[in-house]
Amino acid sequence: MPALRLTLLLAALCPSLPARQAQRREPGRIGLSVAPAQGSLMGIYNGEEFVFEESSWYLVNLLKLLWHYGLNPLRMYMWVEEILDKFMRIYRYQTHDYAFSSNERLLHALGGNDFTRMLNQTIDEAMQKAGFSHKFINEMVCPAMRVNYGQGVTINGFVGAVSLAGVESGLWSVKGGNKLVCTGLLYASKAEVIPGTVVSIEPKIRPRPTGDPVKLYQVMYNTTSGLTGDTYDIVVIAAPLGHKMADITFKNFNPPVPEFPNPYHQTVTTLVHGRLNASFFGYRDPSAFHLGAIFTTENPKLFIRSLGVVSPVEGAGTERNPSSQLAVWKVFSQEELSKEQLRSLFSSYDSIQVKKWLAYPQYSPPERLPPIILHDDIYYLNGVERAASAMEMSAIAAKNAALLAYHRWYGNTHLIDQEDLHEKLKTEL
Ligand SMILES: *[C@@H]1O[C@H](CO)[C@@H](O)[C@H](O)[C@H]1NC(C)=O
Ligand SMILES: *[C@@H]1O[C@H](CO)[C@@H](O)[C@H](O)[C@H]1NC(C)=O
Ligand SMILES: *[C@@H]1O[C@H](CO)[C@@H](O)[C@H](O)[C@H]1NC(C)=O
Repeated sequence: MPALRLTLLLAALCPSLPARQAQRREPGRIGLSVAPAQGSLMGIYNGEEFVFEESSWYLVNLLKLLWHYGLNPLRMYMWVEEILDKFMRIYRYQTHDYAFSSNERLLHALGGNDFTRMLNQTIDEAMQKAGFSHKFINEMVCPAMRVNYGQGVTINGFVGAVSLAGVESGLWSVKGGNKLVCTGLLYASKAEVIPGTVVSIEPKIRPRPTGDPVKLYQVMYNTTSGLTGDTYDIVVIAAPLGHKMADITFKNFNPPVPEFPNPYHQTVTTLVHGRLNASFFGYRDPSAFHLGAIFTTENPKLFIRSLGVVSPVEGAGTERNPSSQLAVWKVFSQEELSKEQLRSLFSSYDSIQVKKWLAYPQYSPPERLPPIILHDDIYYLNGVERAASAMEMSAIAAKNAALLAYHRWYGNTHLIDQEDLHEKLKTEL
């Protein structure tokens, strides 16, 4: 996803940023490397005109930001940094093998009531309370929410802050494509993978010739060779449950496994190989148009949420002026774009790929987070998406579930749901 690059503008004002970037860019354990960064200029369009246009001159950008938003951008940087610092505690907790039995407890252990309260309010409310201006929220914060989560500033404050952290942290991508993370991790885990679709899970009690009967789960899956299954001690579900999502039947559970009624949000991704129509964005002279990423504010007239030039996964060649040349553009919208809409956005195009998907939850605070433990030994990862949907959140939820399953299996209760871990681990240093 294209990220607003406020960071780069603000980096010089804050010495801690480069260190964090460096730390996040350490070479991967699964042999992956970082793709060279692609720079393209961004603009924020309100449906009539650009309310902000980035220049290739750092100082110009800084002055423009100060002129339009005063100290709001810098204050946002510090506000998000404070949240991020607390959020990063999870890595220390997990390094010390601590686990949490619910998503609320996990968040509470990181940032106390301040964190759980963010699930109860919109990012708009949270930032207004923190003193940010309407103009800044509408023109800078809202576009970031729209590109990252397809929704405006009505999403919960926590996912909103995560979204802004993405804006600030200098996102990078994996050379060869981010999907290599999944194949790399699977390979490194030495897991046995059964390609198929899980259809049902059912608890079973099997007698043992020696001693107590044993409790197991029968998991049925549909593979290319038909319906088959096996029994397991522990089941971890890493797919969103609910309407039109992973369609798994929980058979004969007493009490029944809860329903997951909360909807996911539809996003349509359209990849277009063509030339952008600069006059659509009010440019009389297309050669003056240099933007490679366009974000939008809330405006019912707008049928797009963002547009950005996609760079090759190998990280080769940047277009200096994407509008005058053929480029691959990624367009996010709520609905599929019509022929007319595409013809007005692009002066010409020769190929199109459309992907419609349920990309992230439809956020509506106050959020209630789904449980992690669905039954004695069944764990569910995707509930964390309702707090904030992001790759990093999924990785944290996965590690938490692994630790939790292990500790519950072996009765290590002292490593589950501990309060005041931050203080405890400080004194351990
Ligand atoms: C958030 O709202 C729920 C009710 O929806 C309430 O039970 C909870 O205490 C609230 N949390 C905070 C930290 O205010
Ligand atoms: C298994 O997959 C096949 C092919 O996709 C499908 O026709 C069939 O209905 C599936 N069976 C079940 C039980 O889901
Ligand atoms: C480009 O945008 C302008 C202004 O919206 C519109 O009049 C024109 O039809 C669009 N298409 C092309 C191919 O120029």
